[in-house]
Amino acid sequence: MAVFVGDHPLIKHKLGLMRKKDISTKDFRELSSEVARLLTYEATKHLATEKKTVEGWAGPVEIEGIKGKKITIVPILRAGLGMMDGVLDLIPSAKVSVVGFYRDEQTLTPVQYYVKTASAMEERIALILDPMLATGGTLIATIDLLKQAGCTKIMGLFLVAAPEGIARLEEKHPDVDIYTASVDERLNEVGYILPGLGDAGDKIFGTK
Ligand code: URA
Repeated sequence: MAVFVGDHPLIKHKLGLMRKKDISTKDFRELSSEVARLLTYEATKHLATEKKTVEGWAGPVEIEGIKGKKITIVPILRAGLGMMDGVLDLIPSAKVSVVGFYRDEQTLTPVQYYVKTASAMEERIALILDPMLATGGTLIATIDLLKQAGCTKIMGLFLVAAPEGIARLEEKHPDVDIYTASVDERLNEVGYILPGLGDAGDKIFGTK
């Protein structure tokens, strides 16, 4: 499993702004999208390309295009929606597969309450979107679901990841690579990332 940590100055700068306590909903929302766009650039760097010849303005010209599998993005409700526009800016034709989970308070395990995936998932690369990789429970449940649907190439994009969540992912799905703007210190006792961003869903949607 590879963990790519965004080292671009723009990623660092934008994530730094997102950590400020009094950030407005508008700024947090815009920055989520902007960081997601920059992470998408990195996550798509290794896609295979193929050459073909097309008719150009001055005759035949060799061009390069993305080869093989098409992409589906998979925002995890609800906070993952805050990264969607940034990713679609770069991959406008991607199909969107949406999943939602809640946490069972007795078992503390994620329970699926919504899923609507694109067609022919076995032919697609899945790009999971969630601002925070915390305990990893929801992420693992999402990957289980995507693999059951036939996906063989899955990647994850996160604004911030916790070492605990990364370790759990490595154990359960070592074939999934992740891209994040930062690996933070640790989780607190209620599963929030420190120093983290706080509740990313509330900050994107302006709720409390
Ligand atoms: N979800 C969040 O929104 N923030 C965290 O720190 C962890 C999970």
